Amino acid sequence: MSFSSEEDRIESIKDRWNKSTKSSVFDALFGGTGYRTVGYYETESDSLAQSVRNMTALVAEISQMKSASHILDLGCGQGIPVMDIAVHIGCSVVGVDLAECHIENANKSAELYKKEKKPDLKSEFYAASYFDLPEAVTSQTFTHVMMQTSMFYAHHRIDEILSTISKLLRPGGVLVTTDVLRTGESADLNKFMEMNFMSALLTLDEMKAALLRNGLEYYGGENLDDHFIKSAAKKTEKIVTENIPCPSLPFFKLQESIVKNKEMTFQIVMAKKI
Ligand SMILES: C[S@@+](CC[C@H](N)C(=O)[O-])C[C@H]1O[C@@H](n2cnc3c(N)ncnc32)[C@H](O)[C@@H]1O
Repeated sequence: MSFSSEEDRIESIKDRWNKSTKSSVFDALFGGTGYRTVGYYETESDSLAQSVRNMTALVAEISQMKSASHILDLGCGQGIPVMDIAVHIGCSVVGVDLAECHIENANKSAELYKKEKKPDLKSEFYAASYFDLPEAVTSQTFTHVMMQTSMFYAHHRIDEILSTISKLLRPGGVLVTTDVLRTGESADLNKFMEMNFMSALLTLDEMKAALLRNGLEYYGGENLDDHFIKSAAKKTEKIVTENIPCPSLPFFKLQESIVKNKEMTFQIVMAKKI
């Protein structure tokens, strides 16, 4: 994929996500949760809202987040997933997102969470690119870095982002991502990447090698292709049955088909700082 410049690519991503906060379509598709990610279906009847909450709960569980953990969420969106982790597990959290509107919403939600859910909530949010983190973040160290559907924007700069993460993690600390990875080649896959402003898409083996180059060792994860397919299909179904004016309908159909056709896979990837 080629963009006129990396700055333009980043601006386009920022613009898309800032605009998404003004769209009621996104709220409808994620059940008003504030999450913007792929769902995990514990049962066939899970709603879209339940499924995205399940996914974050799985990320927290599988990477063994604990009350003493200090979590950094890179590409945190509106901060709700990482704040839900803080509420359920009792840990402290920091979130960074490119889209200023996401961070405004995260800060508003943090106030509400303190009033309604957890008076002692320890959360900080920063509007910044994960390629250019503020000192308030780089001066800290973390037990976990999570990236829930936000790493794929960085595959062409993988050593840069992984070396940053490696420096931010404490010894034995964990990187946990939910991410798409290449398993084939096709025009549809290229189209998906273009629609997502992705300059590259690594295979799992390439990701494992990049992790190792940066002092991080892959130690497991989970193939979530079935959940990715269901998540896309459920969104398509909702758009059609509720007649939602959603321009992303072809996008959801495309992402369902490229995973079904084994051109792309969706995985939890976990790596430990060596
Ligand atoms: C699919 S959303 C996921 C949001 C959130 N993790 C969630 O689960 O709801 C991807 C997010 O990555 C953010 N993002 C993309 N590129 C970024 C970058 N360079 N630095 C920080 N955030 C970035 C976007 O602004 C967007 O909020």
